Amino acid sequence: MDTGVGDILGRYDHDGTRLIDILWDAQNLYGHLSDAVLAQIATGVGRTTLDVVETASFYHFFHRKPSGRHRIYLADTVIAAMNGYREVRDALEVATGVRFGETDASATFGLFETSCIGLSDQEPAMLVDGVAFTRLTPERVSAIVAGLAAGRSAVDVANLAGQPADGVGYVDAMVDSNVRTDGPVFFCRPTDYPSLLDRCLSDGPDATIDAITASGLRGYGGAGFTTGRKWTLCREAPGAQKYVICNADEGEPGTFKDRALLTRAPKDVFVGMVIAAHAVGSAHGIVYLRAEYEYLKDYLERQLQDLRDAGLLGRGVVGRPGFDFDIRIQLGAGAYICGEESALIESCEGNRGTPRLKPPFPVHAGYLGQPTCVNNVETFAAATRILTEGADWFRRMGTPDSPGARLLSVAGDCLRPGVYEVEWGTTLDHVLDMVGAHDPLAVQISGPSGECLSVQADGRRRIAYEDIPCNGAVTVFDETRDLLECVTGYTRFFADESCGICVPCRAGTVALHAKMALITAGRGSQRDVDDAAAWGALVRTTSRCGLGATAANPILTTLDKFPELYRARLGDRFGPLLPSFDPDAALETT
Ligand SMILES: Cc1cc2nc3c(=O)[nH]c(=O)nc-3n(C[C@H](O)[C@H](O)[C@H](O)COP(=O)(O)O)c2cc1C
Ligand code: SF4
Repeated sequence: MDTGVGDILGRYDHDGTRLIDILWDAQNLYGHLSDAVLAQIATGVGRTTLDVVETASFYHFFHRKPSGRHRIYLADTVIAAMNGYREVRDALEVATGVRFGETDASATFGLFETSCIGLSDQEPAMLVDGVAFTRLTPERVSAIVAGLAAGRSAVDVANLAGQPADGVGYVDAMVDSNVRTDGPVFFCRPTDYPSLLDRCLSDGPDATIDAITASGLRGYGGAGFTTGRKWTLCREAPGAQKYVICNADEGEPGTFKDRALLTRAPKDVFVGMVIAAHAVGSAHGIVYLRAEYEYLKDYLERQLQDLRDAGLLGRGVVGRPGFDFDIRIQLGAGAYICGEESALIESCEGNRGTPRLKPPFPVHAGYLGQPTCVNNVETFAAATRILTEGADWFRRMGTPDSPGARLLSVAGDCLRPGVYEVEWGTTLDHVLDMVGAHDPLAVQISGPSGECLSVQADGRRRIAYEDIPCNGAVTVFDETRDLLECVTGYTRFFADESCGICVPCRAGTVALHAKMALITAGRGSQRDVDDAAAWGALVRTTSRCGLGATAANPILTTLDKFPELYRARLGDRFGPLLPSFDPDAALETT
């Protein structure tokens, strides 16, 4: 066996559940994952080569062919398209001499498009060797590529002041946190973590769960499941080990509030995990960090080490023998579906990110088959604040069904994109005023998996589970935007990100994208629109997980709110029959 592979396997005790880490280390060492390396890894972890190849081929960021010393991933998103994406893309091809999807002959540059990288407030944006570059222009791209071609590393190009990689200055050198509000729940004054944990441990798990239940906290990951109930179920579930997982996958296009929390308030998140661990009876925590946020990893490791040094993580938390809890960071490898909690658990176990059939739910049989509590980054941060300020304090904010406040990631056509805290129950109009939206036509709430709202019809509605549920993403489109173009972009996202295990989702997302592209190009008929609606309903009801269940939302919700846009786009250039037939294209092929 190659000594490089041997060393990597040794680092992880030949543990196949750490396959994602092993593949990352191997790719970082060899530049790509060759068949020979994958076969050696398979032998080393006691899995079949096919199994390891299956896993490696699932994730966008693993490469099985040489893919360039500098791998450049440009975020190909609806928002980037509104901000000069095409010019930046062209400039990258010119500067590197490589076409997208390819690597140059000298294997210096590989150019790839990727889905949202969590920087919608500062796009166009790209990752180069894991380093983020934002607010791209053709000129900026040329300068960056020139720096790389001259032999500088991506880190050196981005981090001119040479900030240490484990400091917040390093992160700030690359991206703006764009936090626009401070408190009352998030990004407010520092918390006295030792006293808080000491009190929670003295009061006991039942008191903690009672407080979280009384606060009415609902998870911020999308579904709004009550956190007190989740922690109770996990606590009551029988299991030799229990696990607490922080979902930092944040892949929904338009969402970036978890990035801001991890940058500006990471200890609120980690201490929330400690509180959860004590409540459910867990000794092991995992932060599943999307690979697109790799530039945060050293900084987060430093924050964890600070907590260990302060006795707030590790053996005997706050000096209490009997409560040991530590956290490791699991880097993802580029797959939106890994935000779905059971797919995330599969990924943590070193597998493809395929969602599991439920039940059983993770609280009963999650990571390694043991009871597992998966919560969003923001949920853990809120738990820390609730136990500091009290359940009543939290309950006094928001609405009866949606107590408290939440963070919004606002992007698109507004003067002040960024992260805002609002009480649940805030109207859409208020949010649009706050962010300086100009002539807003529509708002995509909760990203493509959510709904498209008409500002005119829905402006007075409230962001709350009783009215407009929201996972935090708010994308504003003004009157000048081609909404159908945006819908087409969103349908392509789902086609790219379907894990493919269910036929309706695998085939349906591709078919829906093709229909939308046809309609947007002005070559669709009423029949195409009707087909899209019918197929959308089918994909929604026959898919295994939330991705398939929501993949048709961009079409169905714009059809509902803006039917006139579809009517106006139906093709009549070639008469009422078969507008989808393109005579120019047909003549070209004959
Ligand atoms: C396709 C898909 C992607 C998801 N992505 C995320 C994500 O990036 N972050 C997240 O916290 N939850 C995500 N979820 C929801 C998780 O499955 C899970 O409900 C959530 O992490 C639970 O945390 P909470 O109770 O604190 O909300 C996703 C769900 C689906 C179906
Ligand atoms: S619905 Fe789509 S993403 Fe979800 S499990 Fe099925 S194929 Fe995979």
